[in-house]
Amino acid sequence: NSVCVIDSALDMMEQDPVGAASFVPLLRRASQRIGHLVCTLLDVNRLESGAMPLRVQDVPWASVCEPVLAETGLLARAKPVVLNRTGENHTVVRCDPALVERVLLNLLDNAIGVAPDRSIVDVHAERTAEGGMLVRVGNRGRTIAPEVLPTLFRKYRQGGGAPVKRLGGWGLGLTFCRLAVERHGGTIRAISPYVDGEGAAFEFVLPAEPK
Ligand SMILES: Nc1ncnc2c1ncn2[C@@H]1O[C@H](COP(=O)(O)OP(=O)(O)OP(=O)(O)O)[C@@H](O)[C@H]1O
Ligand SMILES: [Mg+2]
Repeated sequence: NSVCVIDSALDMMEQDPVGAASFVPLLRRASQRIGHLVCTLLDVNRLESGAMPLRVQDVPWASVCEPVLAETGLLARAKPVVLNRTGENHTVVRCDPALVERVLLNLLDNAIGVAPDRSIVDVHAERTAEGGMLVRVGNRGRTIAPEVLPTLFRKYRQGGGAPVKRLGGWGLGLTFCRLAVERHGGTIRAISPYVDGEGAAFEFVLPAEPK
């Protein structure tokens, strides 16, 4: 895990102080991963214990979506996969934007991780008939077994098959997504296959008026 990576890198830096600078990217990635884990653990815990405040605002969907697409764009280019945004981007959504941004970030992180090279990852948003907002992140590639679909949102579930990331995750991202969406009074589900018999999509609906 990342703490061991930092430990070994520090040992090597001690043995070879001249080459120490070459360990900086490794150390930075490891510390980012630890930071991400700590945030997710705290948020899951706060959401579960009902101690997460909801800072509701009326914001255009684009202002939630764009920072996340900019952040994951680097990941997508490195892979490479193409991020394809469709739907009603200027529709105003009533939500806690910081929380919803992180839901989208987790879904895109998973989708980009599992998407085949040079495939398209879709991010679609539309108003529901009830005045809420439906958001769907879909990728091509491997499907998720039907029996696993309902369990993915439980803590530490990793769904079987190869992990979505090369370094592996903790199986907490989708738990955070479910709790954050439910905190708004919304719902989230997994759909697989997504298109042409392949891939998976994760779709969440935020109500017009968060609870
Ligand atoms: N788009 C997807 N396609 C196929 N499987 C997926 C997809 N998204 C998630 N999964 C499966 O669901 C599991 C749980 O996802 P989740 O995001 O909760 O955890 P993780 O990505 O493994 O770790 P992390 O806590 O870092 O997010 C993944 O390990 C993977 O098996
Ligand atoms: Mg994840």
